[in-house]
Amino acid sequence: MKKPLRPILLAVAVAIAAPAFAQFAKPEDAYKYRASVMFLQGQHMGRINAQLKSDKPSLPAIAENAAILDTVNRLSFTAFPEGSDMVGNSRAKPEIWKDQAKFKQYADRLNGDVAKLVAASKAGDLSATRSAFQSVAQVCKACHDDFRRD
Ligand code: HEC
Repeated sequence: MKKPLRPILLAVAVAIAAPAFAQFAKPEDAYKYRASVMFLQGQHMGRINAQLKSDKPSLPAIAENAAILDTVNRLSFTAFPEGSDMVGNSRAKPEIWKDQAKFKQYADRLNGDVAKLVAASKAGDLSATRSAFQSVAQVCKACHDDFRRD
């Protein structure tokens, strides 16, 4: 029973060392992965928006959704291997790989703004929560305008 351990350890080491995008067997999988993640982004943004539009926004509910966003946002940007704009119903523009720095800037801005949203909602500060939410929504839109086909 001693022998099989080595390949397993090796596989684990490779999985940890490999960049996230290398984990997709085919470009279709990367597309499915990011479309799933972005569906979640849309859902949780929608829930926060609904709270902010209600008469009595629940800051704990917003904080909970913001924490989920904080995690899922980070997942989507690991799922854009080059050439995966050509698969499925992808609306990704090839500019993503021509101007990776700009794409990454948006991703970083999103993470920063969502961190502010988490902090403001946890602190129970409604007006800071509103303005952080607006910044987040603006980054979503700005990146879509530049990098997503209509
Ligand atoms: C760094 C750029 C970038 C940011 C920031 C970004 N997106 Fe996207 N998003 C994309 C791209 C590119 C696509 C198209 C992906 C594809 O079709 O392959 C997309 C697609 C989507 C889709 C459609 C998924 C589908 O089923 O095809 C939704 C919903 C979405 N994004 C929501 C969001 C929300 C909500 C935010 C902000 C919280 C956000 N995105 C932030 C780049 C971004």
